[in-house]
Amino acid sequence: MFKYRDNQLMVEDLPLAEIADRVGTPVYVYSRAAFTTPLDDLESAFKDIPHLVAFSVKCASNLSLLGLVAERGLGADIVSGGELYRALRAGIDPGRVVYSGVGKTAREMAEALTAGILIFNAESEEELHLLAETAASLKRRARISLRVNPAVDPGTHPYVATGLKESKFGLAPEAALKLYRWAAQNPNLEVVGADCHIGSQLLTASPFLAAAEKLRDLIFQLKKDGLELKYIDLGGGLGVTYQDEAPPSLAEYAAGLKGILSGLPGLTLILEPGRFVAANSAVLLVKTLYHKTNGDKRFVITDGAMNDLIRPSLYGSRHEIAPVRPSGRPEVVVDVVGPICESGDFLGQDRRLPALAAGDLLAVKSAGAYGFTMSSNYNSRPRAAEVLVSGGDFRVIRPRETYEDLVRGE
Ligand code: LLP
Repeated sequence: MFKYRDNQLMVEDLPLAEIADRVGTPVYVYSRAAFTTPLDDLESAFKDIPHLVAFSVKCASNLSLLGLVAERGLGADIVSGGELYRALRAGIDPGRVVYSGVGKTAREMAEALTAGILIFNAESEEELHLLAETAASLKRRARISLRVNPAVDPGTHPYVATGLKESKFGLAPEAALKLYRWAAQNPNLEVVGADCHIGSQLLTASPFLAAAEKLRDLIFQLKKDGLELKYIDLGGGLGVTYQDEAPPSLAEYAAGLKGILSGLPGLTLILEPGRFVAANSAVLLVKTLYHKTNGDKRFVITDGAMNDLIRPSLYGSRHEIAPVRPSGRPEVVVDVVGPICESGDFLGQDRRLPALAAGDLLAVKSAGAYGFTMSSNYNSRPRAAEVLVSGGDFRVIRPRETYEDLVRGE
């Protein structure tokens, strides 16, 4: 959806330069088709088995994007009361919301119980006790899954590997078995599922399959104990191409999971995809302010910075950076940096780009997942605008923040 036409980078049928002219920079520009195609592909890949696609709100949470999820009758994977609020405001059916996370508060639990969400993915004994108490005080019954830590190495960046034995997430299978037995006796809990999420940006299918097998074994064990589950939630994590990564195809991923699930008739599969849907749905559009050379190093300073997109600084992630109107000037190797007062503030390092002049626009690609949602006001920079493009039209789905927004409530 982001392609050159007549030497101009387009988003669908609209020149990105036109959006920069009309909305300013930095701006996140989403393609509606690029966001909805993976959602529709997921639906069709799993249409022959009972399943629920619960979009992971944390990766792209603008109400207009969540509205596209709601329109399709899909669900949401949430990790906070704020994400619940967004999902409901966007019209997502609470009966299709699953709530993950290691630190749910009593207030958040009460909000989710009152909303009538589908499942709480509980991650510790203490959390489950508090959930039972909270449900009792509201005279409700909480549907629960336990999040199991399958001790599988997803082979990803350590900050986003969540199913390692030493990570804070989930419960060891033996601990989970014990807790399932306790939960099954509790009148305010309804045990319905088993859950795991082993990490993000996985580039091979085998860790997913290894985790799914461990969950299957646990589900068999519970069945022997007389506890029949209804749901198996395998989380998110399917990787995408930022540069030249080759993640498993959706077909390969789906076939692998279905193979394992075929031994578990009657179970509904829940998936919590985030990045797979959103990553390649947006670019962060920035403008060149200056060009300078320090020693042997050349820098291009743009109006976009680490507060707008923190992934390069935080994880060393590489996002492709493309000129919006290639100038034909000779290429040079540059660091693309922002105005923030830290040397860790860069969008890309050692990039070969046509020499840039003030005013030249750059598109930082694959910025749709964990881009805007991880942005901040650091250095008192108003957060960027967000724009949604459909065909040749666009809509501002979040205006650029103002200085007044910066000090609201202080
Ligand atoms: N479910 C749970 C319980 C999760 O914790 C996550 C992501 C997902 C689903 C969605 O995973 P995905 O399909 O997007 O891989 N900020 C990092 C990624 C953090 C992922 C956190 N959990 C980044 O920018 O790479």
